Amino acid sequence: MDKNILEMNNITKAFPGVVALDNVSFHLRKGEFHAICGENGAGKSTLMKILGGVYTPDAGEILINGKSVQIGTPLDSILNKISIIYQEFNLVPELSITENLFLGKEIRKGIGLNKKQMHKEAKKTLARLGLKDFDCERLVSNCSIAIQQLVEIGKAVFYDADILVMDEPTAVLSEKETTALFALIEQLLAKGISIIYISHRLEEIVSTCHRVTVLRDGKNVKTLNNDHYNINKEDIIKLMVGRDMMDYYPEKIRLQNKDVILEVKNLSKEKTFRHVNFQLAKGEILGFSGLVGAGRSEIMKGIFGALKIDEGEILVDGERVHIQKPSDAIRAGIALLPEDRKREGLVMKLNLSDNICLATLKQFSKMGTIIKKKKNSLVHKFIGYLQIRPALSERLMENFSGGNQQKAVIAKWLIANPRIVILDEPTRGIDVGAKYEIYTIINELAKKGVGIIFVSSELLELIGVCDRILVVREGKIVSEHMKEGFSEEEIIKSAAYN
Ligand SMILES: Nc1ncnc2c1ncn2[C@@H]1O[C@H](COP(=O)(O)OP(=O)(O)OP(=O)(O)O)[C@@H](O)[C@H]1O
Ligand SMILES: [Mg+2]
Repeated sequence: MDKNILEMNNITKAFPGVVALDNVSFHLRKGEFHAICGENGAGKSTLMKILGGVYTPDAGEILINGKSVQIGTPLDSILNKISIIYQEFNLVPELSITENLFLGKEIRKGIGLNKKQMHKEAKKTLARLGLKDFDCERLVSNCSIAIQQLVEIGKAVFYDADILVMDEPTAVLSEKETTALFALIEQLLAKGISIIYISHRLEEIVSTCHRVTVLRDGKNVKTLNNDHYNINKEDIIKLMVGRDMMDYYPEKIRLQNKDVILEVKNLSKEKTFRHVNFQLAKGEILGFSGLVGAGRSEIMKGIFGALKIDEGEILVDGERVHIQKPSDAIRAGIALLPEDRKREGLVMKLNLSDNICLATLKQFSKMGTIIKKKKNSLVHKFIGYLQIRPALSERLMENFSGGNQQKAVIAKWLIANPRIVILDEPTRGIDVGAKYEIYTIINELAKKGVGIIFVSSELLELIGVCDRILVVREGKIVSEHMKEGFSEEEIIKSAAYN
């Protein structure tokens, strides 16, 4: 396994204001499972986009099987048998799953399409990813973000490639789909395919990858050997952040106050969730656990008015509020940080500053004109608070790294001063250091009496952060766990079985 299938040598790439990659070399052996780690903005995705022909490097060369190649366009990359699953999805929302899977490589029958065959293949593809009997004719826009990720993986994997790149594939997946993905990765490796794997889930990396390359501030810090699964998470973190990190979860001060700030009664939506009842106290951090597709995000959207409910009541401070649409919820003091930041949280063609102020423009306008100074100073306060990098408020949102985009969504909601905050997968794709910062912010909000709902597929994170955890299975709350008695095993069991 020691022959290099790919060598990226001395790659440099600068964008206005930042050097994303500074003389980076990266080598991939044939049949190897090689992870790339690094903080948000370290340059991981940029390196892969160069391999994918999306960006042209300013300097450096790429060798495949020892031969120098020019990758100027995405087609060049495909012709070199490279297949990439990008961090941000590239599916066409208006097309079905099958149509997306076969886009550009449709199976034909005479002059028409062989729909039956494509349908069959699509079903098989999803089954291999752990999704049995899923309706492949469903439009991608109607699928959850996890399903979309699986379709994205399916698209890349079943295409005949020698080098497969996965940029954060498991960020939106839960335990079950992640296991299915790793089983699939094993099959691909056995076939001799070489895989580059980017993830912020370090446990996953140390228990599976052959080697790990760490990038920091656009430089290659080190490549570690993991032949005997001998490296641990702390080794990687130290190289990522350049120092030791002792705690993953900040200490939380619990409020004595048990006043209920939000009460949800009998919330139901046909085929989605049923008779959802719970209370949230001031200063409480309430976790929602469950498998992907259990209905957690839908419940949150229902509360927020982003999904029409069939029945149920929502009370804020003991008073019934009528929420028909998100603006009603915002007026009632509720904020929702959605799981799909690209579609629901941000406008990629606007700059950072405008995105942060999107939901609160009124705060900054006086008789229709926006008070620039007030806006600027508040924006910069939040950029500093969340350590958004680079701290350039005028930069277009699409030019920020994935993790920094996520921080911008958080800033956007915090600026509105909400009393109830619903966070749906807030740390997805965020590096360890920034995660800690986000937990700290959540704790501070709680200390001020804000009620917090925290939806996450990472159970350890919920256990580390929450006061109480509710488990959702098939659209129903099936169990409640208190901080004193949190047990990983019990929560997993209750999420998965009857
Ligand atoms: N198109 C672009 N224009 C300008 N700057 C960019 C562009 N793409 C990336 N950058 C910058 O290059 C740096 C590296 O970004 P990159 O997306 O490679 O980070 P990353 O390691 O993938 O981070 P994350 O973990 O958040 O996904 C960042 O500072 C980012 O803001
Ligand atoms: Mg990235």
